[in-house]
Amino acid sequence: MTIRQILTEPDPQLRIKSKPIQKVDADIKKLMKDMLDTMYAAPGIGLAAVQIGVHKRVIVIDTAKEPEPNNPMYFINPEIVWTSQTKCTFEEGCLSLPKQFAEIERPEKCHVKYLDQNGKEQFLKAEGLLATCIQHEIDHLNGILFIDYLSKLKKSFILKKLLKAKKEDVSDHINF
Ligand code: NI
Repeated sequence: MTIRQILTEPDPQLRIKSKPIQKVDADIKKLMKDMLDTMYAAPGIGLAAVQIGVHKRVIVIDTAKEPEPNNPMYFINPEIVWTSQTKCTFEEGCLSLPKQFAEIERPEKCHVKYLDQNGKEQFLKAEGLLATCIQHEIDHLNGILFIDYLSKLKKSFILKKLLKAKKEDVSDHINF
């Protein structure tokens, strides 16, 4: 089990657009295993490779709730090919924006084309929480964070809180 460090805003690496995967090989499988370990440990329901500093179009998601068994989903080169006109709103959080939450409106349903963990082409019709999670994670691959949908005022408020928390975190860890 390998838990990787999760990058947090305002790390500029989070804003880099991720590149498509050419071949699903052992390295990609190891990457997805590490991502899943990191996501479960955090804990979170979704993670994009860019969040651990790897700029490849890979995401992992598990929206199963206790006491349901884990249901890991792997998406390589995911592409949204359709979204519904109807919208829905969830309170979103993000492992790269620790302890920050905001209500974000997105299309309620989406259809996604992707490669699975075996490199096989797949098609998924998602709705509700899963659809929101997929859209949130694909945004990461394009360097977008959920705070980008907020007003300037709300966004700068969250960024200030994050910077303050980071400073406090650092001073906590200096031991002479
Ligand atoms: Ni996120």
